[in-house]
Amino acid sequence: ADALKIGIAGLGTVGASLVRILQDRREMLATTCGRAIEITAVTARDRSKDRGVDLSNATWFEDAVSLAANADIDVFIELMGGSGDPAYAAVKTALGRGIHVVTANKALLAAHGIELAAIAENKGALLNYEAAVAGGIPVIKALRESMTGNTISRVYGIMNGTCNYILTKMEKEGLSFEACLKEAQRLGYAEADPAFDIEGNDTAHKLSILTSLAFGTAIAADDIYLEGITNISIDDINAAADLGYRIKLLGVAQRTESGIEQRVHPTMVPYDSVIAQVDGVTNAVAIESDILGELLMVGPGAGGNATASAVLGDVADIAKSRPGAQHVPAFGRPTNALLPYKRAQIQ
Ligand code: NAP
Ligand code: HSE
Repeated sequence: ADALKIGIAGLGTVGASLVRILQDRREMLATTCGRAIEITAVTARDRSKDRGVDLSNATWFEDAVSLAANADIDVFIELMGGSGDPAYAAVKTALGRGIHVVTANKALLAAHGIELAAIAENKGALLNYEAAVAGGIPVIKALRESMTGNTISRVYGIMNGTCNYILTKMEKEGLSFEACLKEAQRLGYAEADPAFDIEGNDTAHKLSILTSLAFGTAIAADDIYLEGITNISIDDINAAADLGYRIKLLGVAQRTESGIEQRVHPTMVPYDSVIAQVDGVTNAVAIESDILGELLMVGPGAGGNATASAVLGDVADIAKSRPGAQHVPAFGRPTNALLPYKRAQIQ
């Protein structure tokens, strides 16, 4: 079969890891996917930056939209971040050409996911985004594919590696909030603007995506009750520990009698629960449903390799798919109502 030609916009923590893995495992991937995967086009902000990878065989484009519009590619991989342009324009441009898109960008999907999914469906393209929620944990596949037919009652968990890393390190090593955040940034876990992590927006973006998949709703991150971890002190963590609890930043979406409730806030969880034992950059997502029962997935939630692993899985799915095959829609058509934000709901 012909090689799958991919273009990558964004060569930072995730993009550079992806390039490295694709190059190191070229032969293995060609065998498992039934065709080679070739990076034919790339872009980032600064062409002169040394990224520790050899990009000499790929055409460099001056910007992401021109890559999406003009490159000879089968798949456009968006790893720049941000809910607006150039990520939005570039993804729309690629889908408009009928080119498959893989993205790790939850901010983009939280803002435009339903619209982008509709363009993808109209053009017969795939929009894959496993890496957008909970890093390497295959939670999108679980909801989109494996759990089809289940009625879901609740989805909740630890969905931000940076916050969980900070809370764990503050408790176990007694380090300050600021020192822990700096370390999370150094390790490539944090968003370009870490306020998205610590103020809870990143968890809200991810939760809004899971809510839409689990409950057939619109994606509405702005309707989520939101409280981050910026006000959590070592004293709070120690006081919770004395009472037999740990503090975790949770995202929760659940069916209620009056609609689907979504919320993100620091939560005291009993010390002997599985969620309480999830440490560091690890994420955990629980899905409660009627046929399967309770599914709990725990794994690496951020970082170059963990995230690139999920991106790679999405690319491999495309490499293996047959032309003209029926695709799983990226998001369903929203049919259910979401509850607007109400403080009272979380009491
Ligand atoms: P990053 O290290 O900041 O890298 C971003 C890359 O995009 C850089 O190569 C940057 O170029 C490029 N870029 C940024 N703005 C651009 C623009 N306007 N035009 C062209 N290129 C631009 O970010 P990252 O951590 O790899 O994250 C990438 C995406 O993955 C984000 O959507 C993020 O939310 C998501 N994600 C990240 C993780 C993680 O653990 N890091 C996990 C899951 C999902 P330069 O290098 O030239 O500056
Ligand atoms: N900044 C995000 C986190 C990256 O810390 O979880 C993974 O989406």
